[in-house]
Amino acid sequence: MIVKSLDHLSLISQKISTNLSKEDCIFLIGRIGVGKTTLTRFLINNWQKKKGLKLTEVTSPTFNLLYEYDIKDIKIMHYDLYRVKKSNELDQLGIFLDDNDTIKIIEWPELIKTPLKHKLEIYIDYGKKNNEREIKMIGFGKWKKFENEF
Ligand SMILES: Nc1ncnc2c1ncn2[C@@H]1O[C@H](COP(=O)(O)OP(=O)(O)OP(=O)(O)O)[C@@H](O)[C@H]1O
Ligand SMILES: [Mg+2]
Repeated sequence: MIVKSLDHLSLISQKISTNLSKEDCIFLIGRIGVGKTTLTRFLINNWQKKKGLKLTEVTSPTFNLLYEYDIKDIKIMHYDLYRVKKSNELDQLGIFLDDNDTIKIIEWPELIKTPLKHKLEIYIDYGKKNNEREIKMIGFGKWKKFENEF
């Protein structure tokens, strides 16, 4: 689908946020600067708003690899794996070793081979115009039925 603007992306993010729950994993796939962190910021801010919390900054965990957001009863883990180049480095992070009561949003997830039950893969590409993007979604588990809803 064509995303016409940041506002349009924000609308799409609300639809995703509404359906997010513990154990979900969102993969954000696309070239540098295409909008992965921007979409993550919308998703996290939507949740903070829904829970009546102050909206925080959501910046790229490029060097830290992970930023965590405690949003009342839920924790959102935002990973950026751009700098992780080998599978053993990935294993050391132990991304999936927690007790699965978190939502995980992962930029540059290409190295991950772990099968995941409820996963939404979001492919983002540049569009013809400046603020336009093309988005494709592939859902697994509960997200399967959302693929064609957007
Ligand atoms: N429709 C749009 N969707 C997403 N981002 C947009 C859109 N229009 C403009 N932008 C701008 O594009 C930029 C996207 O940067 P962002 O950091 O989100 O990309 P990224 O994919 O996370 O990059 P990186 O690969 O470095 O992590 C932001 O400055 C954002 O405001
Ligand atoms: Mg980013």
